[in-house]
Amino acid sequence: MKLNTLQKLYTDELRDLYNAENQLLKALPKMAKAASSEELKEAFEKHLEQTKGHVKRLEQVFEELDEKPKGKTCRAMKGLIEEGSEILQQDGEESILDAGIIVAAQKVEHYEIASYGSVRTFAHLLGQNKAAELLQTTLDEESETNELLNRLAGSTINPEALMETELAGAGSSQ
Ligand SMILES: [Fe+2]
Repeated sequence: MKLNTLQKLYTDELRDLYNAENQLLKALPKMAKAASSEELKEAFEKHLEQTKGHVKRLEQVFEELDEKPKGKTCRAMKGLIEEGSEILQQDGEESILDAGIIVAAQKVEHYEIASYGSVRTFAHLLGQNKAAELLQTTLDEESETNELLNRLAGSTINPEALMETELAGAGSSQ
């Protein structure tokens, strides 16, 4: 397909997102399971429910375009999830691992925020107002999730990880 119109680029990006969201549907339960903090677990469980809604909204956006919902392997999301899963396989202190899981989750959210911001703008430019609204709603939820992760990291998980680090360092020069 020749990318010679904004419409095609828009559709292409929507397919990337559709695939990315579906990959996330499978990854989020693993992240919830791996998290030690109850609040972090809950955040992932809540985001899993939201993500199901994101998939549905994308399907509505495809409907607006008279296109069948179709994904196109999002290699970026694949890489982000693969990298994140490395931390899930490691042994270590709970708070340090939770801090690492938050880093991985925030990388995912930032990727999604960039993508949704772009497709929302394309939808506006193309006069797809209903689609723009749907995409904005999802964008807002991604931003709220990112903020929630910031709050969890700042209020409890990073301070606990630091305390753990200080305890671990008490008897060594590390
Ligand atoms: Fe999402």
